[in-house]
Amino acid sequence: MTNRPFRPLNHERDIKAIQRIWIECGWIDDEDDDRKIVSDFFKTGETEVATIDDVAECSVHWMPGQIQYQQETLALGAVTAVTTSHVSRKQGFAQELTARALARQFESGKDVSALGMFDQGFYNKVGFGTGPYETFIQFDPSSLMVNTRARPPKRLTEGDYKQVHRAMLNRKKFHGAVDLFPPEAISFDLRWTEKPFGLGYFDGPNNSLSHFIWGEMKDEYGPYEITVRAYQTTDQLFELLALIKSLGDQITSFSTLEFGEFQLQDLLKQPFRTRRSTRGGKHEQLLQSVAYWQMRILNLESCLAKTHLPGPGIRFNLEIVDPLEAVLNERSGWKGLSGAYVVDLGPESGVRPGSDKKLPTLRASINAFSRLWLGVRPASNLAITDNLSGEEGLITALDKAICLPRPHLGWDF
Ligand SMILES: CC(C)(COP(=O)(O)OP(=O)(O)OC[C@H]1O[C@@H](n2cnc3c(N)ncnc32)[C@H](O)[C@@H]1OP(=O)(O)O)[C@@H](O)C(=O)NCCC(=O)NCCS
Repeated sequence: MTNRPFRPLNHERDIKAIQRIWIECGWIDDEDDDRKIVSDFFKTGETEVATIDDVAECSVHWMPGQIQYQQETLALGAVTAVTTSHVSRKQGFAQELTARALARQFESGKDVSALGMFDQGFYNKVGFGTGPYETFIQFDPSSLMVNTRARPPKRLTEGDYKQVHRAMLNRKKFHGAVDLFPPEAISFDLRWTEKPFGLGYFDGPNNSLSHFIWGEMKDEYGPYEITVRAYQTTDQLFELLALIKSLGDQITSFSTLEFGEFQLQDLLKQPFRTRRSTRGGKHEQLLQSVAYWQMRILNLESCLAKTHLPGPGIRFNLEIVDPLEAVLNERSGWKGLSGAYVVDLGPESGVRPGSDKKLPTLRASINAFSRLWLGVRPASNLAITDNLSGEEGLITALDKAICLPRPHLGWDF
């Protein structure tokens, strides 16, 4: 395929067409406020568009950030908005523009890419693998077994987005935690919240925001949904939980993606009894699992250079198939990671092109290998459902070698 109608976004010229796409996708209403948020959004990050008659009909937007891998930090490209208008669906535009965004991410030094998916399968075609189950919980705040009292918090508004962004960057991080660098990334989350509430504490240096919750108030008695939050210490976490509890005289339920580093159920009084008595209702105590985000390795070498696993180390051949190449069509430059490598995993890990006849061989798509590397599932699990295979001894050795905490992004995008 040649002469694909792709070019970088020209904000002034294209923004009306982009707003129309978002209206057609049902992402915004045809209102000035919504149009303004979209216009501001496309002033950040990088966007390429596909055109018909030189009018933008499909766009892929991404932002720079970072992702934590154990105690190390890797450069991240976050794919933040993929949309196609009603008149240009199924032209392969979205898929190819996403592939091109990945190539740009690699070329600008990103090690890993991540995104929130509309469904599984589409982004698999450019090498993404699905993350682990995240837990969505709805609970009665008055049933929280937290004995501390919260101090009166300060109100937060969307105008505080720079403080909120800094608090997100400084939050306590765990394996897989992601940051998006443009402060506007958070500004959009805040501006997009209907009936928002924001409550926080300014205990950081120079009275900066240290811990907070932000979300949406549904109606008088809830559910209140927490969509963004951060804290730096366990005491601050408990102050936020105490704050949530303090609203429990009025608010019957709060919902949130679980914090990830602990089980919220541990802090709920009689969770099974409450589950029975609230079943089927609007304020039902719920625990739902959903694996909604995906990621892939872009730079194998730098990802493995930052991988430190307890010994003894293992060495194996890795044959990677990366579907990206087939989607990139005529674009010159980086084409993905298909190829043969020799990998070392251990306290010091690494990778080099080639193969060694004496070593066992792991065959995997980049999708599956990325999941293995991040610790989404062990090798023996992926060998059942994903494109990953190798002799039994190697799979068992990989299961033993790669024991990582379950990764959580901790930032919704
Ligand atoms: C998702 C969206 C961007 C796809 O746009 P598009 O331009 O039609 O996509 P492409 O033409 O590049 O790819 C379409 C192909 O992907 C396939 N596909 C779509 N969803 C898929 C899935 N879950 N699994 C596997 N394949 C899938 C289609 O069947 C089609 O294949 P075909 O060409 O062989 O028929 C478009 O539907 C859209 O804008 N939706 C609303 C906004 C949205 O949800 N965006 C995604 C946010 S994460």
